[in-house]
Amino acid sequence: MQLVRAAESKRREVPTARSEDAAPSATGIDVRDVSKIFALGASEQTVALKPLSLTIRKGEFFSFIGPSGCGKTTLLRIIAGLTTPTTGGVFINGTQVTGPDSRIGMVFQKSTLLPWRTVLQNLLLPVEVTKSCSMQEARSRADRLLEMMGIAAFKNRSPDELSGGMQQRAAIARALITDPEILAMDEPFSALDEFTRERLNDELMGLQKSAQKTIIFVTHNISEAVFLSDRIGVMAPRPGRLDSIIEAQGFPAVRDASLRKKQEFFREVARARDAFDRLHL
Ligand SMILES: Nc1ncnc2c1ncn2[C@@H]1O[C@H](COP(=O)(O)OP(=O)(O)OP(=O)(O)O)[C@@H](O)[C@H]1O
Ligand SMILES: [Mg+2]
Repeated sequence: MQLVRAAESKRREVPTARSEDAAPSATGIDVRDVSKIFALGASEQTVALKPLSLTIRKGEFFSFIGPSGCGKTTLLRIIAGLTTPTTGGVFINGTQVTGPDSRIGMVFQKSTLLPWRTVLQNLLLPVEVTKSCSMQEARSRADRLLEMMGIAAFKNRSPDELSGGMQQRAAIARALITDPEILAMDEPFSALDEFTRERLNDELMGLQKSAQKTIIFVTHNISEAVFLSDRIGVMAPRPGRLDSIIEAQGFPAVRDASLRKKQEFFREVARARDAFDRLHL
């Protein structure tokens, strides 16, 4: 992975985003001068994010890693239109995000499946709300997604009857039901044991390549970020900010589980760790 300091990466990766007049990128996600300050009462405030700009390319797997409180969730929520930035804006394929955006499917850390609905009914919920396609079409998509995620046999079960890994598989299937071009995932596998997480990492990798999604992924886990990502944004706390961007180098185009045992993987994990050490936390 090649380390690019954030200031440099802004020049290299979003050369046009520096100028307010420049048109946003026609493809991909432009995050432009986005910052977030939370007011805490009359006199106190938290700078959750200092102004940040970057472009995530269409089809890219981009991860954010960083210690607790450095603004990862805040940034993801701003990109998905769930939180309004204090300054700046986010553009998807050149169009500004102004609220919850159907172009993005969200997967959260904890399963947000509704316990009183079956797995299938949970999957259908986004279509009931957005009416993005007919229910008949949604049902056949749900069947395909449940099959793909390996939980077809559980479609009529309650989420409580599923293991944690199966619940996250269902949450991913639900995020994909409206066929969004972007999947935004906030520590989706952090509550899982290592083996389950690695298996889901492998499946996610396969899914991204076959369905050609852009994935924005938040994790605390350096190995997970290295295994999955084309690029990793390293974030730092107090105040929350993007410190640097590291780029995958020397990995095969198709990554599979065998990569985890290879020298190049260990080397890249060590480089990502170096980027962390430079934060002097
Ligand atoms: N709704 C809110 N109101 C006030 N402060 C908030 C709010 N949401 C987040 N913050 C503050 O903003 C900062 C960044 O929070 P955020 O949840 O984005 O961090 P994070 O990097 O996702 O942390 P973690 O790794 O623990 O999930 C923290 O100091 C947090 O207390
Ligand atoms: Mg968070």
